[in-house]
Amino acid sequence: MSLNIELLESSFLQIKAQETEFMAHFYKTLFADYPEVKPLFANTHMGKQAKQLFKSLVLVVENLRNTDILSNALQGLGTRHVKYGVLPEHYPMVGRVVRC
Ligand code: HEM
Repeated sequence: MSLNIELLESSFLQIKAQETEFMAHFYKTLFADYPEVKPLFANTHMGKQAKQLFKSLVLVVENLRNTDILSNALQGLGTRHVKYGVLPEHYPMVGRVVRC
């Protein structure tokens, strides 16, 4: 499957204009649909977390053509997520929430 970079960039611009609403909807839906992931965030400051997650999405979308930057950033993020206790089966949950 190839990425439609232009479409990703233009659709993300719309999300960028509604960061707070998007992130509030994201975590509300994630925890409602998948309550089993809630304990992973037991000690997390959710306001800060939402900002960090959004910043990482900005970094990804801004570097879709810079594969070196992208793979470095995502490798670091993936390694840290193993330490947070995130498992491979949690990723499709996040994917499904973002799509709705
Ligand atoms: C699309 C993939 C994801 C992205 C871009 C992402 C992004 C982030 C970012 C930027 C942070 C802040 C800390 C850091 O940079 O290491 C973070 C922390 C975290 N994420 Fe994710 N994440 C993703 C997937 C997931 C999934 C699938 C889960 C589990 C359901 C998850 C659970 C957590 C937890 C528990 C933390 C730690 C919060 C803390 O510091 O207490 N993430 N994530």
